[in-house]
Amino acid sequence: MSTQTDPQRMEKIVSLCKRRGFIFQSSEIYGGLNGVWDYGPLGAELKRNLKDYWWRVMVRERDDVVGLDGAILTHRAVLKASGHEDTFSDPMVDCRNCKARLRADQIGDKQQCPICGSKDLTEPRPFNLMFSTQVGASADPDSIAYLRPETAQSIFVQFKNVLDTSRKKLPFGIAQIGKAFRNEINPRNFTFRSREFEQMELEYFCRPEQGMELLEYWKEERLRFYENIGIPRAKLNVLTVPDEERAFYSKGTYDIEYEFPFGVQELEGVAYRTDYDLTQHQKASGKPLEYFDDETKQRFVPHVIEPSAGVDRTVLALICEAYAEDSAPDEKGKMETRIVLRFHPRIAPVKAAVFPLLKNKPELVTKAREVQQLLRPHMNVFYDEGGAIGRRYRRQDEIGTPFGITVDFETLGERGDELRDTVTVRERDSMKQDRVKISELLARLLPMIT
Ligand code: GAP
Repeated sequence: MSTQTDPQRMEKIVSLCKRRGFIFQSSEIYGGLNGVWDYGPLGAELKRNLKDYWWRVMVRERDDVVGLDGAILTHRAVLKASGHEDTFSDPMVDCRNCKARLRADQIGDKQQCPICGSKDLTEPRPFNLMFSTQVGASADPDSIAYLRPETAQSIFVQFKNVLDTSRKKLPFGIAQIGKAFRNEINPRNFTFRSREFEQMELEYFCRPEQGMELLEYWKEERLRFYENIGIPRAKLNVLTVPDEERAFYSKGTYDIEYEFPFGVQELEGVAYRTDYDLTQHQKASGKPLEYFDDETKQRFVPHVIEPSAGVDRTVLALICEAYAEDSAPDEKGKMETRIVLRFHPRIAPVKAAVFPLLKNKPELVTKAREVQQLLRPHMNVFYDEGGAIGRRYRRQDEIGTPFGITVDFETLGERGDELRDTVTVRERDSMKQDRVKISELLARLLPMIT
């Protein structure tokens, strides 16, 4: 695992994200809102594919996990009981010279402002990361609510309702994907540390004696997940969080880290949180959050393993991993630099692009539109008739489309009946082309993109 950073590569990735419509600065035309991002047409597709795949493998393909879609606005009492209201903070210092607000743990030992170099800094003080708001018209303290800082808490608070309605037996999990908000002191590294982001969290409830084994199980499952979306094991690091850095209630925590161009950084935490959260909510609400064991006739508060991943960080890792520069022939056969996103077809925002060889030949256009219609119900398909075919391939390479399908004169039967109703399928990474019958296209593509 390389610990070297590559700011130039990161700059190219950020610029591609904007140029091709993956990620834009939020409220850009008004100067931008720091730490907040909007996903453009391709970013929205990529993010959706990631979330859909997570939901598929973590919920739909399992008998022991059900889903939840909890509210973002959260009762103050929930976040009081969870400990967030009192302790969810980062240490902040102010530079008295340039007025910058800094995270004390990020300025290193020098105690010097990284912006102006001044040593005139305030003492560190805790800064709570939660965004609060008022619910309803009155402005009294009882109307305070928070934008959730993690999706996990609604899972704990709804534990009993889900248990009673789904009638699951331990071990079982409740999964959720959704927005979370943290007023980060210093958002940075593009979308890596944002103020508004999405999480994919599973709370997997179990008996206390199963906890340590399930912690290992979920770590391995999660590593497999990343490999299945195109992030190789060699680019992932599993950090065993040392005792002194772990939350006091946790019996074991792993951070799954990825080798970003700006350093090896956390993608996901897999934490054994014992019975801490349910116990806290049981105490504070006065409502039992226990599990009744039919066999032993005992009631107890289950323990929980929590794999908690960031959608935005994973999207960023996918883009960083996919970004490549190689060479390909231009229209005249001369080699030129090609920018290509080598996304795994499963998560690629556009799965296939359909091209009529020439746009001024109506039969080619009609046939290409037919091919697009054939594929459309099953995948995101792009149609492009503008410019030389090589240019069109290159545009798709740059957004990571794994398959380019060209309708040409052979397709129309103008070069003999044998090739009638066949198209060329060009594979993005090898640039190899293959002739495929239109009637066999779906069967050929579907297994590679699902
Ligand atoms: N429920 C546990 C929890 O929220 P966390 O380590 O604070 O744990 C889990 O967050 C994941 O959420 C992180 O591994 C990261 O992927 C993502 N995440 C956290 N803060 C983030 C931020 N400011 N911007 C983007 N993603 C963030």
